[in-house]
Amino acid sequence: MIPLVDLKANYLPLAKEIAQGFERVCNDTAFILGADVKEFEKEYAAFIGAKHCIGVANGTDALELALRAAGLQPGDEVLVPTNSFIASALAVARAGGQVKLVDCDDDYLIDLESCAKAVTPRTKFIMPVHLFGQCAPMQKVADFAKAHALAVVEDAAQAQGAKQNNRAAGTFGIAAGTSFYPGKNLGAYGDGGAITTDDDAVAQKLRALRNYGSEVKYHHPETGFNSRLDTLQAVVLRAKLKHLSDYNAQRRAAAERYQALLKDVRGVGLPRTASGNEHIWHIYAVRVPKRDAVLHSLQAQKIGAGIHYPVPIHLQGAFKSLGHKAGDFPQAEAAANEMISLPMYPELTAAQAEQVVGALRKAL
Ligand SMILES: Cc1ncc(COP(=O)(O)O)c(C=O)c1O
Repeated sequence: MIPLVDLKANYLPLAKEIAQGFERVCNDTAFILGADVKEFEKEYAAFIGAKHCIGVANGTDALELALRAAGLQPGDEVLVPTNSFIASALAVARAGGQVKLVDCDDDYLIDLESCAKAVTPRTKFIMPVHLFGQCAPMQKVADFAKAHALAVVEDAAQAQGAKQNNRAAGTFGIAAGTSFYPGKNLGAYGDGGAITTDDDAVAQKLRALRNYGSEVKYHHPETGFNSRLDTLQAVVLRAKLKHLSDYNAQRRAAAERYQALLKDVRGVGLPRTASGNEHIWHIYAVRVPKRDAVLHSLQAQKIGAGIHYPVPIHLQGAFKSLGHKAGDFPQAEAAANEMISLPMYPELTAAQAEQVVGALRKAL
């Protein structure tokens, strides 16, 4: 069996360090906002080159709180690509915003032409999603945002360490949310997330928002949330962050191997790295005909393939009220019907990649 993601292979070399960290936290009983959270926040901010990092309970909260701290008002429209994990849109709805879905380009990244059709005078935010491990076209996003007076809040959940023209995902907008869900490039051993920002006022607001709206204990000038990164999770994240650049480089090598092995396989559409991007391959997805039959065959051959994502957000029951129908976003729908994600993790060996490609050839 070759799994889609092998968290155990990643855990084993870190087991001792993490166990010692857990013991330290338990001995200190600093379970909530302990020293490891503060240290991790500093380390992660430095890693991506942001001024502030604020740890929260998960990536969905990170995006919701980022929008709130950046000043979203009830009913403000937010442009969100429909080909994302549903959390991107859920965060907007939960913050009180109005989701305005848009289509994607050939690299599965937010399509600015689709944004131009969707934007209205009520639109106040744009949320580019750095999907699968590469940055959305941020210069185009910035130009569009400027032209329409929109604030940019990035969904950087799948892009920890991804860069565009040497600038890291999570440093382009007024704020960015990321997720430390276990399978992410930087994954915790439970839920976790963070917001990064260069804006001091936004950072201060976020530190209060995640902590019951309080900066001084038992004083609550505004309504807030209970959404903090757990100290035990911060221990795991600190241990892994030291290796994240290596993990991302190993993923890149695995992706290059797949590209070389697959380049002559008829019928397979390969993923591309958009110009200026340093891809970190959170997900390696190819396009194939008769995708569901191919998936079935791969699973029968014990290859842990997956689909990211089978149903675009505009066709989800949760967003029925937006009134969309099949055909509204042709690029995203075609991708949802044809894409298949192959096993991708830092420890994927050359032999495993060859086995995956052999199985895919057979499936096709
Ligand atoms: C693109 C994207 N946005 C947001 C999220 C939400 O993160 P979480 O699951 O930590 O709430 C995820 C991951 O799950 C994601 O992949």
